[in-house]
Amino acid sequence: MPSISDSKCVLVVGSTAGIGRALALAMLDLPSQPTVIVCGRRKERLDELVASNNATGRLKSVTLDVLSERNTLKSSIEDIVNTYSDLDAVLFSSGIQRAFDFTKPETVDLDSIECELATNYTSIVRMITFFLPHLIKLGEQGRPTFLFTVSSGLSIVPSTGVANYCATKSAIHSLSISLAVQLKEKNVHVVEIIPPLVESELHDFEGTTQRLSNSWLSLEEYTKVTMEGLVRGDPYVPAGLAVDLHKQFEEGKLEAATKMHGHFKAMTQT
Ligand SMILES: NC(=O)c1ccc[n+]([C@@H]2O[C@H](COP(=O)([O-])OP(=O)(O)OC[C@H]3O[C@@H](n4cnc5c(N)ncnc54)[C@H](OP(=O)(O)O)[C@@H]3O)[C@@H](O)[C@H]2O)c1
Repeated sequence: MPSISDSKCVLVVGSTAGIGRALALAMLDLPSQPTVIVCGRRKERLDELVASNNATGRLKSVTLDVLSERNTLKSSIEDIVNTYSDLDAVLFSSGIQRAFDFTKPETVDLDSIECELATNYTSIVRMITFFLPHLIKLGEQGRPTFLFTVSSGLSIVPSTGVANYCATKSAIHSLSISLAVQLKEKNVHVVEIIPPLVESELHDFEGTTQRLSNSWLSLEEYTKVTMEGLVRGDPYVPAGLAVDLHKQFEEGKLEAATKMHGHFKAMTQT
């Protein structure tokens, strides 16, 4: 399997903080010396990130709100692809997490539920769709290209207090399997990154950061393990507790989906 280590240009959506920021900086050290584009809403964070880490001149930034209206998002992505024609890998790390108590339905804010779904799932499907013409074109020219999705160990076994978050991550997980199987023949390689609880700003909104910090994986350790998996070209990259969850509940699923895809193609071609 081809791997990120050959990439010439990587975009990391959601890299003003946490996992996306750490992976973007780690990718600067890949042997292929790629251009790395950091991306998110907070321009001051992007400016600071580039100013303090750009000895190589290969770190660039793009301001983007993944919740932009569909056509605005499409034209932002077309601008990125036109500016960076070498772009051969996109990692989607943008995400939010909200808690809901369905035993008190009057407290469940449906606007917040829909925002979480749009941020964690719908926007990712949109962006993938908008990036694909460019990536497929490079793929057909013989250059492997990559889409890295970020699900969660909670996509496999949910944590009930963040039920909607877990559902969005299960959706990303399922989508990643289907796209990995579909797009392989286009030389577009879809890799699912499956983090456990990791040091980041994800839980600041709900005020649970301090409590969770007792059991999270440090960002440094997480980044090291995940980059190893990405460089090896693993088809999915769990870390920490997510490794056992994946082994227990998911092993063989990608292979089963590949088999089913083959059967379906054979059925529809005859
Ligand atoms: N940390 C964990 O324990 C954990 C575990 C499993 C999975 N994950 C997943 O890992 C990914 C990264 O999360 P993290 O833990 O690193 O969280 P984080 O520190 O809060 O970072 C989230 C990133 O998402 C970006 N983002 C959020 N909404 C956005 C929007 N509308 N448009 C553009 N960017 C947006 C933020 O940038 P701006 O605010 O600047 O836009 C920020 O860069 C998420 O998908 C999360 O679900 C995290």
